[in-house]
Amino acid sequence: MPWIQLRLSANEDTSEKYSDWLSACGAQAVTFIDAQDTPIYEPLPGDEVIYWHNTVVMGLFDASHDMDKTITYLKSIHPDKNNMAYKLEQLEDKDWEREWMDNFHPMKFGERLWICPSWREVPDPTAVNVMLDPGLAFGTGTHPTTALCLTWLDGLDLVGKTVVDFGCGSGILSLAALKLGAKKVIGIDIDPQALQASKANAERNGIADRLALFLPKDQPSFKADVVVANILAGPLRELAPTIIEFVAPNGQLALSGVLEEQANELQNIYSQWCEMDAIAVQDEWVRLSGKKN
Ligand SMILES: C[S@@+](CC[C@H](N)C(=O)[O-])C[C@H]1O[C@@H](n2cnc3c(N)ncnc32)[C@H](O)[C@@H]1O
Repeated sequence: MPWIQLRLSANEDTSEKYSDWLSACGAQAVTFIDAQDTPIYEPLPGDEVIYWHNTVVMGLFDASHDMDKTITYLKSIHPDKNNMAYKLEQLEDKDWEREWMDNFHPMKFGERLWICPSWREVPDPTAVNVMLDPGLAFGTGTHPTTALCLTWLDGLDLVGKTVVDFGCGSGILSLAALKLGAKKVIGIDIDPQALQASKANAERNGIADRLALFLPKDQPSFKADVVVANILAGPLRELAPTIIEFVAPNGQLALSGVLEEQANELQNIYSQWCEMDAIAVQDEWVRLSGKKN
């Protein structure tokens, strides 16, 4: 079915109100997007919804909807009346699921590691192949923060090692570590849905027996040979003592989810405990890594 999308410019005070207006006018779905560039917004469970200062509120309408009438009505109630900032777009009628599947290809990280969607042929059956389909939790390999961690894991000798994946999301890093030879991985996430996704993905790869999953409140005290944490700079700063506790002496640590301008501060914090490596950069994201003293 073809659709019409109406975009309204908003801010943190008006976003919710405009969303209600669009729903009341018959929008089938309303979405908020960042009109500037605040790369990741990750609310904690129970957090109040926070809107960006420059938000676009998008309403999706059936193509047969009378948009002239809707625009006239919205202008009549909008605070800027004659200067209401909006944009109308006709969306092509596509098979959206097909389109999305066509765009998701196997991806290689480092020398040996591939992440492959289940509907594609595995490009190299002799490589280390993690089968993973996009789902409810973050982590498919397409984001630079994940890619930086996957490449780092590929460069380690993980055979027989223990690993902690702090902020496991889809479990992508846990699965990669296990397929690269780790004997046991502990995955931790504040989002119960992420733990479910990690479990299902591990089962699909036949390695669920070596992956233990925990919410932070239940996390065991454990010393791992390798710790990887792809969460954002804020939690990496606040949780530094907790994360570092998981690293065994001489163990290796990688931190991701950090923007270039945040790297120095985190490098300084973690160098209290670790011999830090040079920073790795992909797009505007960096990976910090080091060896615990
Ligand atoms: C950017 S995603 C990374 C997912 C996956 N590890 C990857 O590399 O693609 C960050 C994950 O960390 C989780 N997370 C955020 N804050 C956390 C915290 N304080 N403790 C544990 N997990 C946290 C989020 O729920 C999310 O699943």
